[in-house]
Amino acid sequence: MEKMSGRTSQLFRGSVTFLRKCLFNVISIGPIPDHIAFIMDGNRRYAKKQNSAEGAGHKAGYSSLMSMLGYCYELGVKYVTVYAFSIDNFKRRPEEVQYLMDLMLEKIDELLEHEGIINQYGIRVYFIGNLKLLNEPVRVAAEKAMKATAKNNKAVLLVCVAYTSRDEIVHAVKESCKNKRRELQTHLGSKVANGASEGVEEDKKMGLNKGLVIHDAQDDGLEGSEAVEKTDRMLYKGEGNSDDIATRTCKGLLEDAEVREKQRKLPSIKLVDVEKHMYMGVAPNPDILIRSSGETRLSNFLLWQTANCSLSSPAVLWPELGLRHLVWAVLNFQRSYQYFEKKRKKI
Ligand code: FPP
Ligand code: MG
Repeated sequence: MEKMSGRTSQLFRGSVTFLRKCLFNVISIGPIPDHIAFIMDGNRRYAKKQNSAEGAGHKAGYSSLMSMLGYCYELGVKYVTVYAFSIDNFKRRPEEVQYLMDLMLEKIDELLEHEGIINQYGIRVYFIGNLKLLNEPVRVAAEKAMKATAKNNKAVLLVCVAYTSRDEIVHAVKESCKNKRRELQTHLGSKVANGASEGVEEDKKMGLNKGLVIHDAQDDGLEGSEAVEKTDRMLYKGEGNSDDIATRTCKGLLEDAEVREKQRKLPSIKLVDVEKHMYMGVAPNPDILIRSSGETRLSNFLLWQTANCSLSSPAVLWPELGLRHLVWAVLNFQRSYQYFEKKRKKI
């Protein structure tokens, strides 16, 4: 009798998998997102709803994450990002923080098990965030997982821990400044090494050695009409005859242009430099962001990366999130695909 019911459930599971594959084939007629990000909200509320201990909600949340990962990779989504622990979460009760860290440690080990999802789908794992803030065992486990999966290349899982978007942006700007300062030192250093000390002195006079230059692409010096206005102002103040003033103004403008030209050649911080130093720089920007439990806040998650992203906020709590919610989010993404593509091309 037991054997029969086991066989029936196996048959049932097989049919469900088959139907899911058929559904994914139909969805794949349209564009499939490269990257889906999740804010896994509502785990404690789920535990309360079930009259269980708070931790049971997070455990159920992990199971839900595993099913969602399976669906995403089956559908052909290459990158999945999850918000597992924000820097603000450190402000929760110490017992809860400890519980979450212990759960993370246990689950990281589970992820790496031979039979686990990581090997099934060939997933490379990244832990994204200010990892220095994690306790040592979790940090070591996270580093071990990144190293162990570094050669996997079929799919990518990005787990954001000790992460907030503002912290990531500050980190990226600081790193870009450090890099450019190094470039600037090399630039000045090579001038001295080439015996062009005159040039260095000249740069100093022009204030070019003071630090980094942030360029404005529109800033091309005085326009012709401004130069005429400047000449007029000098004439009005009785600062010389018109020919004399015009010559002086032109000379000044030429010098200005020279300084600007020199500044243009100096290392400057550009958008791509900041992007390169983002923790999330290892993945393309997400196409879809799903936040469970009906909340519509971003809560300091991927603020930089979601400028052109389809947002979805199903009302269910994270452990209740199912295939239908994912399918709905993907269909919405496909509906607005042309719009987002146009926006991306403009950038
Ligand atoms: C937010 O729900 C969720 C978290 C703070 C943690 C979620 C973590 C997991 C599911 C485990 C992940 C583990 C690995 C290894 C990836 P909440 O606590 O804010 O719930 P609430 O909104 O009901 O209060
Ligand atoms: Mg919450």
